[in-house]
Amino acid sequence: MNQDPRPVLVTGGAGFVGANLVDHLARTGLRVRIYDDLSATGADGNLSWLRRRHGDQVRATIADVRDRNRLRDAVDGVQVVFHLAAQVAVGASVIDPRADFEINALGTLDVLEAVRGHEPPAPVIFLSTSQVYGDLADLSVSIDGERWRPDDAALAAAGLDERWPHAPRTPLACSKSAADRYVLAHAGTFGVPAVVLRPSCAYGPRQQASDDPGWLAQLVLRAIDDQPITIHGDGRQVHDVLYVDDLIDACLRVWTRVDDLAGRAFNVGGGPAGTLSLRELLAMIEELRARKPTVVLRDWRPGDRRWYAADTRALADATGWRPRIGPRAGVTALLGWLLDQRTGRSQTLDNLGRIAGTHHG
Ligand SMILES: NC(=O)c1ccc[n+]([C@@H]2O[C@H](COP(=O)([O-])OP(=O)(O)OC[C@H]3O[C@@H](n4cnc5c(N)ncnc54)[C@H](O)[C@@H]3O)[C@@H](O)[C@H]2O)c1
Repeated sequence: MNQDPRPVLVTGGAGFVGANLVDHLARTGLRVRIYDDLSATGADGNLSWLRRRHGDQVRATIADVRDRNRLRDAVDGVQVVFHLAAQVAVGASVIDPRADFEINALGTLDVLEAVRGHEPPAPVIFLSTSQVYGDLADLSVSIDGERWRPDDAALAAAGLDERWPHAPRTPLACSKSAADRYVLAHAGTFGVPAVVLRPSCAYGPRQQASDDPGWLAQLVLRAIDDQPITIHGDGRQVHDVLYVDDLIDACLRVWTRVDDLAGRAFNVGGGPAGTLSLRELLAMIEELRARKPTVVLRDWRPGDRRWYAADTRALADATGWRPRIGPRAGVTALLGWLLDQRTGRSQTLDNLGRIAGTHHG
């Protein structure tokens, strides 16, 4: 823990990643200020959970990132800003692209401007997304057993690095891409010590099950409830999955080196070893539950990627970060948490505990 008495600001601190981050920061003794409008499903519950655990150590401003005056007050006197508040669903961005733009792009610009209004400006760690790289439709891929893989062997082995061009295909990817660029521009132009992280699919406890972006929790939850699981495409599509604790570790490592890393963007994900095809995920769930999930197959949707894996070597070189929780241990932990939510008690299944203990290095 650092000795700085100033609070840490986490925008979106009542969300899935935010609540996990706030909990971690508060556990290390830091004072945390949350800025969140509680618009996300489950945000209310997360805030109550944080208040129960940490009392006055965690304070919340219930406000919208589109409110510049409240933002200016919120960044006053903080030692760092983790900017996570965002509209996160592709579907919502298609229904209302203007609101998506205002929250994600303009909201991020306003966070940066609020920070720039103070001397010295607080460091900003921004969570962008791997979706800025688009649907990768031009990538040549082939079927390899239960998964797709790129024909380029080097790409398959290392993943996609940060030099890959932004090619956003959805309003959400556009607004996050613009925000990502503004963060880097504020570092370059105004000297704001700001860093971008581009997470792939994060998952873990406190995630809300939804079609998008909580699809992994949704899939596991439907398996728990013996509900049919809908798969678009052939199920061989490969997702880079990132356990939430590993994402938080990346945020903290970047913070400790933020002056050296200002103006840089880093992919953060499980990497090629931390990928899962949907077929592999279903097989894993079947094994963990000792029950075969029912699957309904539907057509591919426009924009569905066949493959994505993050090349995280830049982040590893800069901070020593490595993903420590592999997909098997992570899915087991998520399954255990979801079962706890269902039953309101701790899961003591030997099988879950045994498998959750396996990490990959
Ligand atoms: N979860 C993932 O897989 C993933 C992947 C890549 C990037 N990210 C990024 O990480 C960040 C956190 O994502 P998450 O999964 O925790 O999402 P989330 O929806 O659980 O959390 C976002 C939080 O922001 C708040 N919020 C939304 N609109 C707001 C507004 N206008 N003003 C103030 N607060 C607002 C919500 O209430 C919520 O608590 C987001 O920026 C997201 O784009 C997440």
